[in-house]
Amino acid sequence: MSLLFLSLLLFVLWAQPTPAAPSTIQKHSFKVDRVRNPDFKRRNVPRELSRAYQKYRMPIPQDLLLSLDDGLQVDSQTDREALNALDLAHLDSPLPQGAKNTIGKVWATPVNEGIEYISPVSIGDQTLNMALDSGSADLWVFSTELPALSTVAHQAYNPSLSPTFKRINGHNFSITYGDGTSASGYVGTDTVDVGGVAVTDQAVQLATYVSSAFLRDSYLGGVLGLGFSQLSSVKPVKPESFFENVMPSLAQPLFTVDLRKDAVGSFEFGFVDNSKYSGMLAWIRANTTKGFWQVSTAGFTVGNNRTRLRPAQAIIDTGTTLMLVSVKMADGYYRHVPGARRSRAAGGVTFPCNTTLPDFVVDVGGAYAARIRGSDINVGWFQDGMCFGGIQPTAWPFQVWGDVFFRSQFVVFHGGNRSLGMASHD
Ligand SMILES: *[C@@H]1O[C@H](CO)[C@@H](O)[C@H](O)[C@H]1NC(C)=O
Ligand SMILES: *[C@@H]1O[C@H](CO)[C@@H](O)[C@H](O)[C@H]1NC(C)=O
Ligand SMILES: *[C@@H]1O[C@H](CO)[C@@H](O)[C@H](O)[C@H]1NC(C)=O
Ligand SMILES: *[C@@H]1O[C@H](CO)[C@@H](O)[C@H](O)[C@H]1NC(C)=O
Ligand SMILES: *[C@@H]1O[C@H](CO)[C@@H](O)[C@H](O)[C@H]1NC(C)=O
Repeated sequence: MSLLFLSLLLFVLWAQPTPAAPSTIQKHSFKVDRVRNPDFKRRNVPRELSRAYQKYRMPIPQDLLLSLDDGLQVDSQTDREALNALDLAHLDSPLPQGAKNTIGKVWATPVNEGIEYISPVSIGDQTLNMALDSGSADLWVFSTELPALSTVAHQAYNPSLSPTFKRINGHNFSITYGDGTSASGYVGTDTVDVGGVAVTDQAVQLATYVSSAFLRDSYLGGVLGLGFSQLSSVKPVKPESFFENVMPSLAQPLFTVDLRKDAVGSFEFGFVDNSKYSGMLAWIRANTTKGFWQVSTAGFTVGNNRTRLRPAQAIIDTGTTLMLVSVKMADGYYRHVPGARRSRAAGGVTFPCNTTLPDFVVDVGGAYAARIRGSDINVGWFQDGMCFGGIQPTAWPFQVWGDVFFRSQFVVFHGGNRSLGMASHD
């Protein structure tokens, strides 16, 4: 299976069109389907929820803490292969000189059983696998100054080996989450290149301390935020995020996100590939006052049943796995799923795996109805024939739409007019 995946990936590398000027971008459509192992038992699902709680600095509910058992350590062979292939993907696709800083493209490979997507990012002369995260603005990496134990399973950035690294004196960062996990360290600048678009003096935050929860995530060399600088945890002056810095040099001031279930997707900078979606893009003005890419939502439809709700804010977040919605929305959706229930053991809603989930159609800014495929809402086996729901309720005053949303929707993040373009993938 792994070999099949690798050869499919190589085929894609081979089939990748040479990047051209944006006006002459070739249409290309390719799909790498990674075949899921039917015997695979998913044990670490509650962690997906806990990550979101950590990220948004919300205390983790007791039920969820109880369910965070020894299933946390995951290490599948396929993901290792994917990682190796990623390195290849990076090395084998140099952009021609002329195209530098006009457009760029980077693969996004699902790892950790689809909990997150990682992409190769060059910092100075070193390449790390990082999560590209539209829900934050920090660019932080594991550094070689962490105790050796912390980096044994991780890639880590070594500033002393990078000729272009410069430390910013007097600046540091500290991210603390609701459950007490944290990362902190100092700040410098280096050249950061994502798929051929580069920023020469990008602020890079070097973790010199990380708490144990981060260490379990052995795929991740760091996080690259694509939100706005208000969100940065750097003190005393918040630096511009990578996207803010790179925007002026792009052919168009935007990036697009194409994430797939069980397949390699991509982030693209500076152009919109029309072959990635069907129909027309709907444009929705984004609310970025808090630094997030945020929209309002006022209802949803399941089958023929349309429910209007008071408008709520939703953060569009590639760095979160699930789709966290209001309790009314989640209950309204799972009412249509026989056998669905809130499970203490899972810390969230589960449903019988043999159920076919209905699509979830959610209002975006009163301008667009985004259809989330039922198959994308099944995020996998939990236990005893029950599967974990990709839509989960949250009592927070805002919603977070993560990868479950992106697997069904192609999204354009337009920094010029601060709006989001959306269309169905297929
Ligand atoms: C970060 O810098 C502030 C002052 O700018 C200082 O109070 C704080 O202790 C520093 N934190 C770390 C982790 O170095
Ligand atoms: C933002 O710009 C894009 C591309 O020029 C355009 O199609 C879209 O309508 C604009 N968005 C809004 C909300 O006006
Ligand atoms: C924009 O977002 C902020 C912060 O979440 C919120 O308070 C405000 O009401 C939003 N504005 C609109 C027009 O929805
Ligand atoms: C439609 O949704 C509403 C609110 O979610 C619910 O009260 C009602 O029972 C649903 N109707 C059907 C036919 O499912
Ligand atoms: C699903 O499986 C359960 C037993 O595990 C069975 O009772 C139920 O009828 C099945 N439902 C469907 C739709 O196959």
